[in-house]
Amino acid sequence: MTLPSTVSTLRPDAPPTPLALVADDLARVETRIRELVASRETRLSEVAGELIGSGGKRVRPALSLLVFRAAGGDDATDVIDIGAALELIHSATLLHDDILDSGMTRRGRPSPLARHGVGLTLVTGDFLFSKAFGVAGRFDAMVVGWATDACIQLCEGEILQQRFRRNPDVQLADYLEVAEAKTASLFSQAARIGAHLAGADPALVHAMYRAGYEVGLGFQMVDDLLDVLGPPEVIGKPVGSDLREGSPALPTVLALPHLPAVRAAFLAEEPDALSVERALDALRGSTVLDEVRRIAEERIRSARAELDRLPPSAFRDGLHQLADLVLERTA
Ligand code: FPP
Ligand code: MG
Repeated sequence: MTLPSTVSTLRPDAPPTPLALVADDLARVETRIRELVASRETRLSEVAGELIGSGGKRVRPALSLLVFRAAGGDDATDVIDIGAALELIHSATLLHDDILDSGMTRRGRPSPLARHGVGLTLVTGDFLFSKAFGVAGRFDAMVVGWATDACIQLCEGEILQQRFRRNPDVQLADYLEVAEAKTASLFSQAARIGAHLAGADPALVHAMYRAGYEVGLGFQMVDDLLDVLGPPEVIGKPVGSDLREGSPALPTVLALPHLPAVRAAFLAEEPDALSVERALDALRGSTVLDEVRRIAEERIRSARAELDRLPPSAFRDGLHQLADLVLERTA
């Protein structure tokens, strides 16, 4: 990925990235996260620390911070707290998601599930989620409501995705509903809360919600593309995981009516390596991936249009750049 994995990986000679604009704030988010994952039960802190220290991109806190700054926010203490809480919620969902998907690799390493089993992974997710709400719960009712909405949508998205798993009737509209719930929800609330905490007027707060939503959808679409293209050492998981799991990813959904090899792998209860390879080859040799990219680009264009409602500033430029980087990401 073009973005640095964490703030600490920003090098002085590295080209400027949107994250560099809020590097000091992101460093404070990092410190806050470390404080929050401390527990007298060191196993909890260890498992949480393993995941959180394994190279997440901190995109959600960065989005909140950039929007906050671009909307004229000054003292970032509150948005730093919210950024830490959003990252903890995101981390909790990854822990729980690996249990549901039997995901054994996460960010290029054996997942917490593979290393510690279901019990500790589950409770560490609960722990992070509780810590996140310990922080988010001190804000006004709107912020608490938005953070809660994101969590509810994350849960609903997971169940909705199960409904379309290996389901030949899945349509583009179903895909969008799942992607909105499982990915765009946290992005949209991150951006909206950043604007709200900066004291922006309701119209701008809503525009930032829309911008975060569009960036989140684009992010998920590129994620689905990378699952087909790999390579595994860059994306941090085996290529073709979505097909193996029967997950209704965008390339699969678009290819189902046209590519029998994709249909066969998607519908098989446990597709063998050869059928997954054939499906991936069929996808790579078709126009489906171009179509996925085109749809993702449309989302990023919409996000940029919403971001244009911000007053001109280096932070607004950084947000445009962050949106563009979603399309360039390689992991
Ligand atoms: C990753 O999808 C899954 C999510 C982003 C959401 C998972 C949500 C839950 C498990 C509900 C729990 C919610 C809370 C608030 C604790 P994926 O499997 O497509 O992505 P992957 O390739 O990263 O595994
Ligand atoms: Mg998963």
